[in-house]
Amino acid sequence: MILEALEYLMTPCPKWARDFGYLSESIAIRHRAKRCADAWKPHQDQTKAAILENCPDDAETIVVLGAGHCFDIPVPELARRCRNLVLVDAVRPMGLCLPRNTEFLTRDIHGLSLCLFEGRNRHQRGEPLQEFSGADYVVSANLISQLPILPLRHLARLGLAADLPPQDGLAAQIQRDHIADLKALSGRAVLIGDARRVVRDRSDKVLSDEALTKLMLLPTPMRSWSWHLVPPGENSDGRTVEIDVGVWMFRPDVANGRKRDLSTLDPLLGAS
Ligand SMILES: C[S@@+](CC[C@H](N)C(=O)[O-])C[C@H]1O[C@@H](n2cnc3c(N)ncnc32)[C@H](O)[C@@H]1O
Repeated sequence: MILEALEYLMTPCPKWARDFGYLSESIAIRHRAKRCADAWKPHQDQTKAAILENCPDDAETIVVLGAGHCFDIPVPELARRCRNLVLVDAVRPMGLCLPRNTEFLTRDIHGLSLCLFEGRNRHQRGEPLQEFSGADYVVSANLISQLPILPLRHLARLGLAADLPPQDGLAAQIQRDHIADLKALSGRAVLIGDARRVVRDRSDKVLSDEALTKLMLLPTPMRSWSWHLVPPGENSDGRTVEIDVGVWMFRPDVANGRKRDLSTLDPLLGAS
């Protein structure tokens, strides 16, 4: 507990990220990842493989959004495959050692939290991915389901959530904004994120089964796997959470701003 408090005080972090809870969440993720290491490893390996598999050969700049602790990011391999590797997250965790050609930027990837923090209207979030428009390859890594959580929590704290469309409406809108931001990039973009979430009680009875792709208006992913996000024993009430993680690619025909010959790629089911 004392170590966590020290980590909270000593991690450099933008004020909006600290105030909105991104830093506490980042510290909590590190502890959860340690406890659930066995259950999470296959998912982390699958994420790394999907990131490398779709990486263009001749990339100058690669950007990873939602890099966090990089548990699921193949940082050394990506750094070898480009001139500049840019990792982006609300928080740069303490103690992260990076290769020479790698920088870590703290940014609000969606823009709503920063907007609310600065007292701006939520429609003025701007174009948060604009600065990465020249990158050859941009990966959104297990981030999309997290994007709505903290801004919605902030709105609820202010008692403003009631004035907004139903929670699902705003959450899905935030996720669709992120997809639109990825699609607007000129390089290749890959989205790795939750496609379906199933919650079960301790007797394995399904309590909820949400098709998240429908809310995000996404087609069937080109690849997917299962992730035991909350494995048995993790929650005191016995509930477990299993996620189907999907991979979607936007602009598969582009690398370094040049059109590529699609006949050399796998059939890209679900690409759009
Ligand atoms: C589930 S984690 C992804 C796993 C991460 N790659 C790791 O290994 O720790 C989601 C990440 O998204 C980040 N995140 C969530 N909303 C964000 C936002 N609006 N801007 C920037 N980062 C955000 C969190 O800080 C967290 O590190």
